[in-house]
Amino acid sequence: MNKLVKTITERKSTRTFENRPISEETKIMILEKIRTLTNPFDVKIRYNLIDNTEKDTTQKLGTYGVIRNPSNFITATLVDDKFALEALGYEMEDLILYLTNIGIGSCWLGGTFNRGQFAKEVGLKEDEIIPIILPIGYIADKKSITEKVMRKMSKGDSRKDWLELFFKSDFNTQLLISEAGVYSEALEMVRLGPSASNKQPWRIIKDGNKFHFYEYSTPGYSKMFSYDIQRIDMGIAAAHFSLSAKAKGFVGNFSVEEPSLKVPENTLYKFTWIGDENMTGKAKEIVLAGGCFWGTEKYLSLIKGIISTEVGYANGNTPFPTYQDVCYKDTGHTEAVKVIYDSAVINLTAVLSLFYDVINPTSINKQGNDVGSQYRSGIYYVDESDLEVIQKSIIELQAKYDEKIAIEVLPLDNYTTAEEYHQKYLDKNPGGYCHIGPDKFKKAMDS
Ligand SMILES: Cc1cc2nc3c(=O)[nH]c(=O)nc-3n(C[C@H](O)[C@H](O)[C@H](O)COP(=O)(O)O)c2cc1C
Repeated sequence: MNKLVKTITERKSTRTFENRPISEETKIMILEKIRTLTNPFDVKIRYNLIDNTEKDTTQKLGTYGVIRNPSNFITATLVDDKFALEALGYEMEDLILYLTNIGIGSCWLGGTFNRGQFAKEVGLKEDEIIPIILPIGYIADKKSITEKVMRKMSKGDSRKDWLELFFKSDFNTQLLISEAGVYSEALEMVRLGPSASNKQPWRIIKDGNKFHFYEYSTPGYSKMFSYDIQRIDMGIAAAHFSLSAKAKGFVGNFSVEEPSLKVPENTLYKFTWIGDENMTGKAKEIVLAGGCFWGTEKYLSLIKGIISTEVGYANGNTPFPTYQDVCYKDTGHTEAVKVIYDSAVINLTAVLSLFYDVINPTSINKQGNDVGSQYRSGIYYVDESDLEVIQKSIIELQAKYDEKIAIEVLPLDNYTTAEEYHQKYLDKNPGGYCHIGPDKFKKAMDS
Protein backbone atom coordinates (compact mmCIF):
# COMPACT_ATOMS: atom_id res chain seq x y z
CA MET A 1 0.00 0.00 0.00
CA ASN A 2 1.54 3.33 -0.96
CA LYS A 3 1.41 6.32 1.36
CA LEU A 4 -1.52 7.96 -0.42
CA VAL A 5 -3.59 4.78 -0.27
CA LYS A 6 -2.83 4.49 3.44
CA THR A 7 -3.84 8.13 4.02
CA ILE A 8 -7.11 7.79 2.09
CA THR A 9 -7.92 4.52 3.83
CA GLU A 10 -7.23 5.86 7.32
CA ARG A 11 -8.73 9.39 7.03
CA LYS A 12 -12.00 9.99 8.81
CA SER A 13 -13.88 13.21 9.51
CA THR A 14 -12.91 14.71 12.88
CA ARG A 15 -15.58 16.64 14.74
CA THR A 16 -14.01 16.67 18.24
CA PHE A 17 -10.62 18.35 18.64
CA GLU A 18 -8.20 18.80 21.52
CA ASN A 19 -8.66 22.16 23.18
CA ARG A 20 -5.30 23.65 22.09
CA PRO A 21 -4.11 25.70 19.14
CA ILE A 22 -2.21 24.28 16.19
CA SER A 23 1.51 25.18 16.51
CA GLU A 24 2.83 28.18 14.57
CA GLU A 25 5.22 25.92 12.66
CA THR A 26 2.37 23.67 11.51
CA LYS A 27 0.29 26.70 10.52
CA ILE A 28 3.12 27.87 8.28
CA MET A 29 3.23 24.42 6.65
CA ILE A 30 -0.53 24.51 6.08
CA LEU A 31 -0.39 27.99 4.54
CA GLU A 32 2.39 26.84 2.22
CA LYS A 33 0.32 23.82 1.14
CA ILE A 34 -2.69 26.09 0.50
CA ARG A 35 -0.51 28.42 -1.57
CA THR A 36 0.55 25.57 -3.87
CA LEU A 37 -2.88 23.94 -4.37
CA THR A 38 -3.91 23.49 -8.00
CA ASN A 39 -6.82 21.83 -9.78
CA PRO A 40 -7.32 20.40 -13.28
CA PHE A 41 -10.15 22.85 -14.01
CA ASP A 42 -8.01 25.99 -13.71
CA VAL A 43 -10.41 27.62 -11.28
CA LYS A 44 -9.21 30.18 -8.74
CA ILE A 45 -10.30 29.63 -5.15
CA ARG A 46 -9.78 32.06 -2.29
CA TYR A 47 -8.81 30.54 1.06
CA ASN A 48 -8.64 32.05 4.55
CA LEU A 49 -7.10 30.54 7.67
CA ILE A 50 -9.05 31.82 10.65
CA ASP A 51 -7.87 31.48 14.25
CA ASN A 52 -10.65 30.28 16.49
CA THR A 53 -8.85 29.85 19.80
CA GLU A 54 -8.10 33.56 20.15
CA LYS A 55 -11.75 34.54 19.90
CA ASP A 56 -13.70 34.85 23.15
CA THR A 57 -16.80 32.69 23.61
CA THR A 58 -19.25 35.29 22.30
CA GLN A 59 -17.25 35.77 19.09
CA LYS A 60 -16.65 32.08 18.33
CA LEU A 61 -17.77 31.05 14.88
CA GLY A 62 -20.80 28.80 14.78
CA THR A 63 -21.11 25.17 13.70
CA TYR A 64 -24.39 24.48 15.55
CA GLY A 65 -22.54 22.42 18.16
CA VAL A 66 -21.41 19.85 15.59
CA ILE A 67 -17.72 20.70 15.89
CA ARG A 68 -15.93 20.81 19.27
CA ASN A 69 -12.82 22.93 19.96
CA PRO A 70 -11.50 23.57 16.44
CA SER A 71 -8.19 25.42 16.55
CA ASN A 72 -8.76 27.05 13.16
CA PHE A 73 -11.13 27.19 10.23
CA ILE A 74 -10.05 27.13 6.61
CA THR A 75 -12.70 28.79 4.47
CA ALA A 76 -13.05 28.50 0.70
CA THR A 77 -14.79 31.21 -1.29
CA LEU A 78 -15.30 31.35 -5.05
CA VAL A 79 -17.36 32.59 -7.95
CA ASP A 80 -19.72 29.77 -8.94
CA ASP A 81 -18.52 29.35 -12.53
CA LYS A 82 -18.47 26.11 -14.52
CA PHE A 83 -16.42 23.47 -12.65
CA ALA A 84 -15.76 25.86 -9.73
CA LEU A 85 -17.29 23.52 -7.15
CA GLU A 86 -15.57 20.48 -8.66
CA ALA A 87 -12.29 22.43 -8.46
CA LEU A 88 -12.98 23.21 -4.81
CA GLY A 89 -13.62 19.51 -4.10
CA TYR A 90 -10.36 18.60 -5.82
CA GLU A 91 -8.14 21.14 -4.06
CA MET A 92 -9.63 20.87 -0.62
CA GLU A 93 -9.42 17.08 -0.63
CA ASP A 94 -5.76 17.36 -1.62
CA LEU A 95 -5.34 19.70 1.36
CA ILE A 96 -7.25 17.36 3.71
CA LEU A 97 -5.03 14.41 2.75
CA TYR A 98 -1.99 16.58 3.46
CA LEU A 99 -3.44 17.56 6.86
CA THR A 100 -4.11 13.88 7.64
CA ASN A 101 -0.46 13.10 6.91
CA ILE A 102 0.80 15.72 9.33
CA GLY A 103 -1.56 14.60 12.11
CA ILE A 104 -4.18 17.34 11.76
CA GLY A 105 -7.84 16.33 11.81
CA SER A 106 -10.55 18.07 9.76
CA CYS A 107 -14.16 17.79 8.65
CA TRP A 108 -15.80 19.03 5.46
CA LEU A 109 -18.67 21.32 6.46
CA GLY A 110 -21.11 22.27 3.72
CA GLY A 111 -24.27 22.49 5.77
CA THR A 112 -23.78 22.69 9.52
CA PHE A 113 -22.20 26.13 9.86
CA ASN A 114 -23.44 29.67 10.27
CA ARG A 115 -22.89 30.83 6.70
CA GLY A 116 -23.75 34.48 7.38
CA GLN A 117 -21.25 34.72 10.22
CA PHE A 118 -18.43 33.18 8.18
CA ALA A 119 -19.31 35.30 5.11
CA LYS A 120 -18.84 38.40 7.26
CA GLU A 121 -15.58 37.09 8.73
CA VAL A 122 -13.98 36.58 5.28
CA GLY A 123 -15.51 39.69 3.68
CA LEU A 124 -17.51 37.72 1.10
CA LYS A 125 -17.78 39.66 -2.17
CA GLU A 126 -21.08 40.09 -3.98
CA ASP A 127 -20.33 37.58 -6.74
CA GLU A 128 -18.82 34.98 -4.37
CA ILE A 129 -20.26 32.06 -2.45
CA ILE A 130 -18.87 30.29 0.61
CA PRO A 131 -19.79 26.64 0.05
CA ILE A 132 -17.37 25.01 2.46
CA ILE A 133 -15.52 25.62 5.68
CA LEU A 134 -13.02 23.22 7.20
CA PRO A 135 -12.56 23.11 10.97
CA ILE A 136 -9.08 21.80 11.80
CA GLY A 137 -7.07 20.89 14.89
CA TYR A 138 -5.46 18.08 16.84
CA ILE A 139 -7.73 15.03 17.01
CA ALA A 140 -9.19 14.43 20.49
CA ASP A 141 -8.98 10.91 21.93
CA LYS A 142 -12.67 10.84 22.77
CA LYS A 143 -15.48 11.75 20.36
CA SER A 144 -18.30 14.02 21.58
CA ILE A 145 -21.80 12.53 21.72
CA THR A 146 -22.85 14.86 18.86
CA GLU A 147 -20.03 13.48 16.74
CA LYS A 148 -21.07 9.91 17.46
CA VAL A 149 -24.66 10.78 16.48
CA MET A 150 -23.52 12.56 13.27
CA ARG A 151 -21.44 9.54 12.22
CA LYS A 152 -24.36 7.21 12.84
CA MET A 153 -26.81 9.44 10.97
CA SER A 154 -24.64 9.76 7.88
CA LYS A 155 -23.49 6.11 8.13
CA GLY A 156 -20.00 7.63 7.90
CA ASP A 157 -18.22 4.29 8.09
CA SER A 158 -20.03 2.52 5.27
CA ARG A 159 -19.40 2.76 1.53
CA LYS A 160 -21.35 1.59 -1.51
CA ASP A 161 -20.38 -1.62 -3.22
CA TRP A 162 -17.85 -1.42 -6.07
CA LEU A 163 -20.37 -2.89 -8.57
CA GLU A 164 -22.87 -0.13 -7.80
CA LEU A 165 -20.36 2.55 -8.81
CA PHE A 166 -18.18 1.36 -11.68
CA PHE A 167 -19.14 0.26 -15.19
CA LYS A 168 -17.59 -0.95 -18.42
CA SER A 169 -18.31 0.84 -21.73
CA ASP A 170 -21.90 1.68 -20.72
CA PHE A 171 -24.19 1.75 -17.69
CA ASN A 172 -25.56 -1.74 -18.43
CA THR A 173 -22.30 -3.56 -17.77
CA GLN A 174 -20.67 -3.64 -14.34
CA LEU A 175 -16.89 -3.37 -14.19
CA LEU A 176 -15.35 -6.25 -12.27
CA ILE A 177 -12.33 -5.43 -10.09
CA SER A 178 -10.22 -7.82 -12.16
CA GLU A 179 -11.18 -5.90 -15.33
CA ALA A 180 -9.98 -2.57 -13.92
CA GLY A 181 -6.36 -3.77 -14.19
CA VAL A 182 -3.77 -1.33 -12.88
CA TYR A 183 -6.53 1.23 -12.27
CA SER A 184 -8.33 -0.90 -9.67
CA GLU A 185 -6.53 0.92 -6.86
CA ALA A 186 -7.43 4.40 -8.20
CA LEU A 187 -11.10 3.37 -8.49
CA GLU A 188 -11.06 1.85 -5.02
CA MET A 189 -9.74 5.18 -3.71
CA VAL A 190 -12.72 6.96 -5.34
CA ARG A 191 -15.03 4.47 -3.62
CA LEU A 192 -13.56 5.28 -0.20
CA GLY A 193 -13.85 9.07 -0.59
CA PRO A 194 -15.87 11.33 1.71
CA SER A 195 -19.03 12.99 0.39
CA ALA A 196 -21.83 15.24 1.60
CA SER A 197 -24.09 13.12 3.86
CA ASN A 198 -21.99 10.18 2.61
CA LYS A 199 -24.19 9.91 -0.51
CA GLN A 200 -21.26 8.86 -2.77
CA PRO A 201 -22.72 10.29 -5.99
CA TRP A 202 -19.82 9.23 -8.24
CA ARG A 203 -20.39 6.75 -11.06
CA ILE A 204 -17.57 5.92 -13.46
CA ILE A 205 -17.56 4.20 -16.84
CA LYS A 206 -14.25 2.72 -18.00
CA ASP A 207 -13.90 2.77 -21.75
CA GLY A 208 -10.40 1.63 -22.68
CA ASN A 209 -7.99 4.29 -21.45
CA LYS A 210 -10.87 6.69 -20.71
CA PHE A 211 -12.73 7.02 -17.43
CA HIS A 212 -16.00 8.97 -17.75
CA PHE A 213 -17.17 10.51 -14.46
CA TYR A 214 -20.92 10.92 -13.85
CA GLU A 215 -22.79 12.43 -10.93
CA TYR A 216 -25.82 10.61 -9.61
CA SER A 217 -27.66 13.63 -8.29
CA THR A 218 -29.72 12.59 -5.24
CA PRO A 219 -33.25 13.93 -5.95
CA GLY A 220 -34.07 16.97 -3.81
CA TYR A 221 -30.80 16.81 -1.87
CA SER A 222 -29.25 20.05 -3.11
CA LYS A 223 -32.50 22.02 -2.72
CA MET A 224 -31.32 23.38 0.63
CA PHE A 225 -28.35 25.07 -1.07
CA SER A 226 -28.16 27.70 -3.80
CA TYR A 227 -25.87 25.31 -5.72
CA ASP A 228 -25.42 21.59 -6.28
CA ILE A 229 -23.27 20.50 -3.32
CA GLN A 230 -22.64 17.09 -4.91
CA ARG A 231 -20.44 18.78 -7.51
CA ILE A 232 -17.93 19.13 -4.67
CA ASP A 233 -18.09 15.36 -4.13
CA MET A 234 -17.29 14.90 -7.84
CA GLY A 235 -14.16 17.02 -7.37
CA ILE A 236 -13.15 14.79 -4.44
CA ALA A 237 -13.60 11.73 -6.69
CA ALA A 238 -11.44 13.38 -9.37
CA ALA A 239 -8.71 14.09 -6.80
CA HIS A 240 -8.68 10.56 -5.40
CA PHE A 241 -8.57 9.05 -8.88
CA SER A 242 -5.88 11.20 -10.45
CA LEU A 243 -3.66 11.46 -7.35
CA SER A 244 -3.78 7.66 -6.88
CA ALA A 245 -3.07 7.00 -10.55
CA LYS A 246 -0.17 9.47 -10.42
CA ALA A 247 1.24 7.82 -7.27
CA LYS A 248 1.42 4.59 -9.29
CA GLY A 249 3.17 6.32 -12.18
CA PHE A 250 0.18 6.65 -14.53
CA VAL A 251 -0.28 9.99 -16.16
CA GLY A 252 -3.50 11.32 -17.56
CA ASN A 253 -5.56 14.47 -18.03
CA PHE A 254 -9.11 15.58 -17.45
CA SER A 255 -11.17 16.82 -20.36
CA VAL A 256 -14.82 17.22 -21.30
CA GLU A 257 -15.93 14.69 -23.91
CA GLU A 258 -19.72 14.43 -23.74
CA PRO A 259 -19.81 10.70 -24.62
CA SER A 260 -23.10 9.83 -26.30
CA LEU A 261 -24.10 7.13 -23.82
CA LYS A 262 -27.52 6.36 -22.46
CA VAL A 263 -27.56 7.41 -18.80
CA PRO A 264 -29.85 6.37 -15.93
CA GLU A 265 -32.24 8.90 -14.40
CA ASN A 266 -30.72 11.82 -12.45
CA THR A 267 -27.27 10.97 -13.76
CA LEU A 268 -25.19 13.77 -15.26
CA TYR A 269 -21.97 13.54 -17.25
CA LYS A 270 -19.17 15.61 -15.68
CA PHE A 271 -15.69 14.98 -17.12
CA THR A 272 -13.35 12.30 -18.42
CA TRP A 273 -9.90 11.26 -17.24
CA ILE A 274 -7.86 10.12 -20.22
CA GLY A 275 -4.84 7.96 -19.46
CA ASP A 276 -1.68 8.13 -21.53
CA GLU A 277 -2.42 5.69 -24.38
CA ASN A 278 1.10 4.37 -24.38
CA MET A 279 0.63 3.09 -20.86
CA THR A 280 -2.99 2.16 -20.35
CA GLY A 281 -3.66 -1.53 -20.68
CA LYS A 282 0.01 -2.31 -21.02
CA ALA A 283 1.22 -1.43 -17.53
CA LYS A 284 1.00 -4.38 -15.14
CA GLU A 285 1.94 -5.02 -11.54
CA ILE A 286 3.65 -7.89 -9.73
CA VAL A 287 5.22 -8.04 -6.27
CA LEU A 288 8.42 -10.05 -5.86
CA ALA A 289 10.26 -11.05 -2.69
CA GLY A 290 13.85 -12.15 -3.09
CA GLY A 291 15.64 -11.60 0.23
CA CYS A 292 16.84 -8.16 1.35
CA PHE A 293 14.74 -5.72 -0.69
CA TRP A 294 17.53 -3.17 -1.17
CA GLY A 295 19.40 -5.30 -3.71
CA THR A 296 16.31 -6.89 -5.26
CA GLU A 297 14.85 -3.44 -5.97
CA LYS A 298 18.07 -2.14 -7.48
CA TYR A 299 18.34 -5.20 -9.73
CA LEU A 300 14.72 -5.16 -10.91
CA SER A 301 14.74 -1.39 -11.50
CA LEU A 302 17.52 -1.81 -14.08
CA ILE A 303 15.54 -4.19 -16.30
CA LYS A 304 14.25 -2.73 -19.56
CA GLY A 305 10.45 -2.47 -19.56
CA ILE A 306 10.19 -2.09 -15.79
CA ILE A 307 8.51 1.28 -15.33
CA SER A 308 8.78 1.70 -11.58
CA THR A 309 9.75 -0.14 -8.41
CA GLU A 310 8.97 0.39 -4.75
CA VAL A 311 9.99 -1.61 -1.68
CA GLY A 312 7.46 -2.74 0.92
CA TYR A 313 6.29 -5.46 3.25
CA ALA A 314 4.01 -8.15 1.83
CA ASN A 315 1.73 -10.94 2.96
CA GLY A 316 1.99 -10.70 6.73
CA ASN A 317 -0.68 -10.70 9.40
CA THR A 318 -1.01 -6.98 10.21
CA PRO A 319 -2.14 -4.10 7.97
CA PHE A 320 0.49 -1.34 8.37
CA PRO A 321 3.76 -2.75 9.73
CA THR A 322 6.92 -0.69 10.15
CA TYR A 323 10.41 -2.05 9.52
CA GLN A 324 10.81 -2.52 13.29
CA ASP A 325 7.55 -4.51 13.44
CA VAL A 326 8.66 -6.76 10.58
CA CYS A 327 12.10 -7.36 12.15
CA TYR A 328 11.11 -7.77 15.79
CA LYS A 329 7.38 -8.37 16.11
CA ASP A 330 6.95 -11.48 14.04
CA THR A 331 4.34 -9.92 11.74
CA GLY A 332 4.96 -12.55 9.07
CA HIS A 333 5.69 -10.04 6.28
CA THR A 334 8.35 -10.58 3.68
CA GLU A 335 10.57 -7.84 2.26
CA ALA A 336 9.21 -7.32 -1.24
CA VAL A 337 9.48 -5.16 -4.34
CA LYS A 338 6.39 -3.85 -6.09
CA VAL A 339 7.13 -3.82 -9.80
CA ILE A 340 5.14 -1.97 -12.47
CA TYR A 341 6.19 -3.17 -15.91
CA ASP A 342 5.21 -2.36 -19.46
CA SER A 343 3.82 -5.65 -20.75
CA ALA A 344 4.32 -4.47 -24.33
CA VAL A 345 8.09 -4.42 -23.68
CA ILE A 346 8.55 -7.33 -21.26
CA ASN A 347 6.11 -10.08 -20.30
CA LEU A 348 5.65 -11.64 -16.87
CA THR A 349 7.50 -14.83 -17.81
CA ALA A 350 10.58 -12.77 -18.73
CA VAL A 351 10.35 -10.69 -15.52
CA LEU A 352 10.16 -13.89 -13.47
CA SER A 353 13.01 -15.53 -15.32
CA LEU A 354 15.27 -12.54 -14.55
CA PHE A 355 14.05 -12.62 -10.94
CA TYR A 356 14.95 -16.34 -10.56
CA ASP A 357 18.46 -15.44 -11.64
CA VAL A 358 19.14 -13.51 -8.40
CA ILE A 359 17.58 -15.82 -5.82
CA ASN A 360 18.22 -19.29 -4.52
CA PRO A 361 14.71 -20.62 -5.27
CA THR A 362 15.05 -23.73 -3.09
CA SER A 363 16.25 -21.90 0.01
CA ILE A 364 13.68 -21.64 2.81
CA ASN A 365 13.60 -18.33 4.73
CA LYS A 366 17.13 -17.44 3.65
CA GLN A 367 18.73 -15.45 0.83
CA GLY A 368 22.42 -14.52 0.91
CA ASN A 369 23.45 -13.75 4.50
CA ASP A 370 19.92 -12.93 5.58
CA VAL A 371 17.95 -15.48 7.55
CA GLY A 372 14.35 -15.33 8.79
CA SER A 373 10.82 -15.45 7.38
CA GLN A 374 11.08 -11.81 6.25
CA TYR A 375 13.65 -13.05 3.71
CA ARG A 376 11.54 -15.84 2.21
CA SER A 377 11.11 -15.67 -1.54
CA GLY A 378 7.69 -15.03 -3.01
CA ILE A 379 5.62 -13.99 -6.01
CA TYR A 380 2.48 -12.06 -5.10
CA TYR A 381 -0.03 -11.27 -7.83
CA VAL A 382 -2.83 -8.70 -8.08
CA ASP A 383 -4.26 -10.01 -11.33
CA GLU A 384 -5.87 -13.45 -11.03
CA SER A 385 -5.00 -14.24 -14.65
CA ASP A 386 -1.27 -14.03 -13.81
CA LEU A 387 -1.48 -17.15 -11.65
CA GLU A 388 -1.40 -19.54 -14.60
CA VAL A 389 1.71 -17.83 -16.02
CA ILE A 390 3.42 -17.94 -12.61
CA GLN A 391 2.58 -21.63 -12.04
CA LYS A 392 3.89 -22.55 -15.48
CA SER A 393 7.16 -20.71 -14.88
CA ILE A 394 7.58 -22.40 -11.45
CA ILE A 395 7.11 -25.84 -13.08
CA GLU A 396 9.80 -24.98 -15.63
CA LEU A 397 12.09 -23.75 -12.85
CA GLN A 398 11.51 -26.92 -10.80
CA ALA A 399 12.73 -29.01 -13.73
CA LYS A 400 16.18 -27.45 -13.23
CA TYR A 401 16.44 -28.36 -9.50
CA ASP A 402 16.38 -31.59 -7.48
CA GLU A 403 15.30 -29.85 -4.30
CA LYS A 404 11.77 -28.49 -4.03
CA ILE A 405 11.23 -24.89 -5.14
CA ALA A 406 10.47 -22.81 -2.02
CA ILE A 407 9.00 -19.70 -3.66
CA GLU A 408 5.68 -18.73 -2.11
CA VAL A 409 2.98 -17.92 -4.71
CA LEU A 410 -0.06 -16.09 -3.35
CA PRO A 411 -2.42 -13.19 -4.08
CA LEU A 412 -0.93 -9.97 -2.68
CA ASP A 413 -2.19 -9.30 0.85
CA ASN A 414 -1.53 -6.71 3.57
CA TYR A 415 1.04 -4.86 1.47
CA THR A 416 2.54 -1.68 2.95
CA THR A 417 5.08 0.63 1.34
CA ALA A 418 8.34 0.62 3.32
CA GLU A 419 9.75 3.76 4.94
CA GLU A 420 11.28 6.37 2.63
CA TYR A 421 14.88 5.59 3.68
CA HIS A 422 14.50 2.04 2.31
CA GLN A 423 13.33 3.25 -1.11
CA LYS A 424 16.09 3.16 -3.77
CA TYR A 425 18.42 2.46 -0.84
CA LEU A 426 21.44 1.44 -2.90
CA ASP A 427 21.16 4.57 -5.07
CA LYS A 428 21.20 6.68 -1.90
CA ASN A 429 23.92 4.50 -0.31
CA PRO A 430 26.05 3.09 -3.14
CA GLY A 431 28.33 1.20 -0.73
CA GLY A 432 25.39 -0.33 1.18
CA TYR A 433 24.94 -4.03 1.89
CA CYS A 434 23.76 -6.06 -1.07
CA HIS A 435 23.33 -9.82 -1.52
CA ILE A 436 23.30 -9.50 -5.31
CA GLY A 437 26.62 -9.25 -7.17
CA PRO A 438 27.54 -6.40 -9.61
CA ASP A 439 27.64 -8.87 -12.54
CA LYS A 440 23.90 -9.40 -12.09
CA PHE A 441 23.23 -5.66 -12.19
CA LYS A 442 25.13 -5.50 -15.46
CA LYS A 443 23.07 -8.39 -16.81
CA ALA A 444 19.84 -6.61 -15.84
CA MET A 445 21.00 -3.46 -17.61
CA ASP A 446 21.79 -5.43 -20.76
CA SER A 447 18.47 -7.30 -20.66
C1 LIG B 1 -19.07 18.38 0.46
C2 LIG B 1 -19.23 17.82 1.84
C3 LIG B 1 -20.03 18.47 2.78
C4 LIG B 1 -20.15 17.97 4.08
N1 LIG B 1 -20.89 18.66 5.00
C5 LIG B 1 -20.95 18.23 6.29
C6 LIG B 1 -21.64 19.00 7.27
O1 LIG B 1 -22.22 20.04 6.99
N2 LIG B 1 -21.64 18.55 8.55
C7 LIG B 1 -20.99 17.39 8.92
O2 LIG B 1 -21.01 17.05 10.10
N3 LIG B 1 -20.33 16.63 8.00
C8 LIG B 1 -20.29 17.03 6.71
N4 LIG B 1 -19.59 16.30 5.77
C9 LIG B 1 -18.86 15.07 6.17
C10 LIG B 1 -19.55 13.79 5.67
O3 LIG B 1 -20.72 13.54 6.42
C11 LIG B 1 -18.55 12.62 5.77
O4 LIG B 1 -17.46 12.90 4.93
C12 LIG B 1 -19.15 11.30 5.37
O5 LIG B 1 -20.19 10.95 6.25
C13 LIG B 1 -18.11 10.16 5.39
O6 LIG B 1 -17.47 10.06 6.63
P1 LIG B 1 -15.89 10.19 6.75
O7 LIG B 1 -15.50 11.54 6.23
O8 LIG B 1 -15.57 10.04 8.21
O9 LIG B 1 -15.30 9.09 5.91
C14 LIG B 1 -19.48 16.77 4.45
C15 LIG B 1 -18.68 16.11 3.50
C16 LIG B 1 -18.55 16.63 2.22
C17 LIG B 1 -17.65 15.94 1.25
